Amino acid sequence: MNRKHFLKISSLGLSALTIDKVNAFSVAPNMPIVISTWDSGMAVNEAAWTVLEKGGRALDAIEKGAISIENKIDCCVGLGGYPDRDGIVTLDACVMDEHSNCGAVAGLEDIKHPISVARKVMENTPHVLLVGNGAQQFALENGFGKEPKVLSKDAQKAYEEWLKKNDYKPEVNIENKKVFGGPFAPAFFDDGTPNHDTMGLLAMDKKGNMSGGVTTSGMAFKVHGRVGDSPVIGAGLFVDNEIGCATSSGVGEEVIRICGTHLVVEFMRQGYSPENACRKAVERIVNRDKVKAKTLQVGFLAMNKKGEHGAYAIQKGFVYSLKTATENNIVAAKYNIG
Ligand code: GLY
Repeated sequence: MNRKHFLKISSLGLSALTIDKVNAFSVAPNMPIVISTWDSGMAVNEAAWTVLEKGGRALDAIEKGAISIENKIDCCVGLGGYPDRDGIVTLDACVMDEHSNCGAVAGLEDIKHPISVARKVMENTPHVLLVGNGAQQFALENGFGKEPKVLSKDAQKAYEEWLKKNDYKPEVNIENKKVFGGPFAPAFFDDGTPNHDTMGLLAMDKKGNMSGGVTTSGMAFKVHGRVGDSPVIGAGLFVDNEIGCATSSGVGEEVIRICGTHLVVEFMRQGYSPENACRKAVERIVNRDKVKAKTLQVGFLAMNKKGEHGAYAIQKGFVYSLKTATENNIVAAKYNIG
């Protein structure tokens, strides 16, 4: 199926500067609902939907959706993802549920499903975040298998190319500049090459409870040990079941600096719509350094308690996938520059 057929350009360019008052406690009319970053979220949403349509819990839907993409060979998620500058794939993931329980792993090697390890951290430990060898040890103790340390064919090729050109210097915007060929990257290319860096999912179940999850191999060719926004609660993911939830994609350092998804949820608490809350967070990044912002991509995706959803990015090209009982679309985010 040609993914372009799903593309629904909702609107482009700068948005209105209005605050949309939201009754945070009203029941969402379109629940259940799942939204996820990028066009690759279409398949992820399908997997999550199998849980949601049966009345299952949002958290279970999130885990199922994330596992589905971790099972695939993908540039930016799972063990088939692009490695760091030392040629090692390290995975980051987190989950957050309707009770504000959360769990995360960072720099996890050789484990196929970091999202499930993150859930185990949440459910089986008093901690939130386990990293590196400790995260792997925890995964092994909890029955996860150790996978061989082999790069996928695509990752090996991309890594060899990067080694030739980059001489071990980390690049902060590798996704756009090197891998995807341009500062204003499209959602996907004519040959179907996916353009994304992080899978962030947000779901609301039939009971109106929200959960979220993020899974990624992080920035391609990063310095070994670098952790981005994805496993950092309040940066790559935040859920407040009374108000809404948000996730992010793009250059994680910029998102961490502003505690991005926590900020988006706080803007929704103030009455901003999901899209305008995301816009306000993007503006926080852009206004910090307008020149640097031209070289970066960050996109936020959010949903409120009414099941309203929206996104906003620095650059053109960020899209999200949406699934409800009546909709199955890719939606283009508005953007600040371009
Ligand atoms: N947003 C993914 C990362 O920066 O690692």
